[in-house]
Formats: sequence, structure tokens, C-alpha cells
Amino acid sequence: MTAAKPYLTGHYTPAVDEITATGLTVEGTLPPELTGRLVRNSHNPKPGITPTHWFKGSGMVHGIRLRDGRAEWYRNRWVRTPALDGAPYLTEHGPDLTASTAGTHVIEHAGRLLALSEANLPFELTPELETVGAYDFAGTLRTAMTAHPKVDPATGELHFFGSSPLPPYLTHHVADASGAIVHSAEVPGASAALKHDFAITRHHVVFVEGSVTFDPAEHSGIPYGWDDEQPARIGVMPRGADGAGRIRWYPVEPGSLLHAANAYEDERGRIVLEGPAVDREGFVLSWNWWVGAPGRGAEPTTASRTRRWVIDPAAGTVAECTVDDLATEFPTINEDLLGAEHRYQYAVSFPDSDGLGGYGVVKYDRTTGERRIHEVGDARMPSEAVFVPAAGATREDDGYLLTVVSDLKQDASRLLVLDASGLGQLAAVHLPRRVTAGIHGSWIPDTAH
Ligand SMILES: [Fe+2]
Repeated sequence: MTAAKPYLTGHYTPAVDEITATGLTVEGTLPPELTGRLVRNSHNPKPGITPTHWFKGSGMVHGIRLRDGRAEWYRNRWVRTPALDGAPYLTEHGPDLTASTAGTHVIEHAGRLLALSEANLPFELTPELETVGAYDFAGTLRTAMTAHPKVDPATGELHFFGSSPLPPYLTHHVADASGAIVHSAEVPGASAALKHDFAITRHHVVFVEGSVTFDPAEHSGIPYGWDDEQPARIGVMPRGADGAGRIRWYPVEPGSLLHAANAYEDERGRIVLEGPAVDREGFVLSWNWWVGAPGRGAEPTTASRTRRWVIDPAAGTVAECTVDDLATEFPTINEDLLGAEHRYQYAVSFPDSDGLGGYGVVKYDRTTGERRIHEVGDARMPSEAVFVPAAGATREDDGYLLTVVSDLKQDASRLLVLDASGLGQLAAVHLPRRVTAGIHGSWIPDTAH
């Protein structure tokens, strides 16, 4: 008998059913202004299904409804896509963009709640997390949609891209604040390199092609792998209708950036991009966990470390460095600063590649260089810490971090509300089940409607 895949055990043990619970117990004081829903996605295959890669597990969305200092409900629902029932992605007619796990992220734009997986169309959900169906922006989206779209805080526009291992490799889209796609353009010079995330600045769209690219010989179900021959590059494309033709690709050191924390233009017009990145060894470490390779423990580890690229368009150069040696992932910021220079960045800190250290929520002050960690405790794992600004906030870190913690010892989960300024715990919402550790999520305030 083979050992259980690590992504189906421990913190990642899938939920076996869907439940709804109301009137949740709250420890501490929930800020009444936190009125809305925290929604979070995870790979959660149905009982009896063992995906060949963590990313192949069907998506399950967990939602927690807060209102006026109370925690009204928790519910979890599978995203009902054709893939949940086994429909293949590749068909005799080509890729089926509706055959999605829809298990990577969940966002809201223009009143639509969308579960995302990067090779597919989004799946629309109701506010109570029931599946409506695949959403193609009223027939105007004909590519896949990244799981990491970006809202421009100045305009409310949603920037996103569709990437594919076959041409067209990369298409940039912009949906306006009402949800209508107003711009789509194929991006010249892109390759089949994996593009999981990207960034926008005030004047540019920043694409990242690392050393991980399409590999049809990779049989885990996710046909990508590290390739030393794949040139790592950053593409800087002016925003606007004619920007695609003016993109410039800058060579960078080999590596792989899964998530961008942020990008911005500095006072000298240089583009600064930051996010946790891995080298070849770090990529293999993560990949082996994602595919359940023998010899890896159940606890996920990562070797990704925050890296900074400074691109100088005038000089045509890129300076890059690793800015911290702590292993982190799931970078977040106050998204009011998305595309502008941010002072504070948050992330989940991981045990190191030897499994030492615990999980925590980390806060970086990029001005003072201070790093602060909220340790979540033994056998506990936090999910991505979502920043929510306080009402009437005057400081960038005046707000809250929301994270769902999986607790193996108690076989339970809590939603922690941390003060984003000092990382102290303000409240803990007792959830009626242990929530499968997972990936990305969003806070959707009622004021978004
Ligand atoms: Fe992601």
C-alpha cells in the first residue's frame, strides 16, 4: 500500500462533506466594522479521489459571515465544475476551459463571486457559495483567466491575463469596474513559461516568466517543470490600448516567482517588483511535495524567500537581490497600495527546508527593515493573511489581518483576527470543523455591493 499523499493528510486532509453552521462562538471582540464575508479556496478532492498533483484537487470554498461584531455563519461548498465529476481538461476538440478545479482563489468583482484556477474560465458562485456556473464575461473572455487578477485601486478596473502552454501564450485583459471587458491584447514575445501571478503599477503591467515552463513529458497532471534552458525574464508593458506593442522583456537570474507581493514605480521611474521566489533546488523541494514524491514529509515546507527586482527602463538594466532569509509564501499587502510603493508586507512564514521552526504570520516594515512574526503555535498552520483596512484608516497598517488556522491537535479551526499594526490577536471565531489548509481568499465587505 502506498503512503497517503501529503496534500491529502495533516493540515491538508480534505473535508468530506458540506455543512452550514450559524451563530459561531467568538473569543475576544470582533470589530463591528468587519461586516462581510471571508471566502477562501482550497484543493479538496471528493472522498475516494487521489489527484496526481495537489493542484488537480477540486476546489472547495469556505465562507465565514461576520456582521456587527457577530459571526453569523460558516459554510463550505465544493465548486461544482465538470472536473468535479471527472471531466477531462483535454478533449478531442482542445482544452475544455470549463473543466476547472476552480480551487486556487476566490475573488469578487462587480458583484460576482468568482472561483479561479489559472488554466480555466472562472466559476461564478452565489453569496452563499452555491455554484452558478462557468463565467465568460458574457461571451467576451475566450482565454483562460489567471487566479491572480489585480484590482487597480484608483479605477476599480480588474487587470488579468490568460496564459497557455500553446500560442497565444499570453493575453492581457482589463475589465472595468462594472465587470465588462474593455481591453484584450495578445502580449508579444511571451513564451510557454509558467505565469502564475503578475503585477500592475500606476503606468505598467509587469509579467514574470521564470525558469519553469511547459513540459509535455511531465506526467503528474500539471505539465510544467524547471528548465535550465528557459530564459527567465520580466516583461514591462505600458498600460493602455497600445501598450502590448511596446512591451520590453528584461533578462533576470534563473528562478521562479509564484506570487508577487507588489510592484510600483519609484521616484526615478524604475519598476520595483517584490515577492517570494525560489531557485532550482527550492522549486524541486516544493514540486516534490505537490506531486507527493516519496521521501517528503507531510508538512509542507518552502524555500521561497522575498526577492526584489529593480528594473531601470532608462538604463535597460535589472538589479535583483534576496531581501530576507525567512521562508515565506502567500504575500499580502493593503491593496489600497497595489501598484504604488507599500511600506508593509505580510506573509505566511514556513518552517525551513529542514522542517525546523513553525508557521506564523509575518509582517515586514520595508522602511525600518523590521520583521515581526505572530507565531500561531505548535501543530497549527495559518492560511494567507488577508488585510482589511480599518474604517477611516489613516495609516497603511491601520487594519486587520484575517487568517484561518488549522489546528491538528484539537482537530479544529479558528478564524483569527489580528491587529495588523502590532500583530496582536483581537478575536478568534470558532469554526465548526477543521478547515482544510489551502490557498487564496478574499474579504468581501458588504460595502462592495
Ligand atoms: Fe497563487
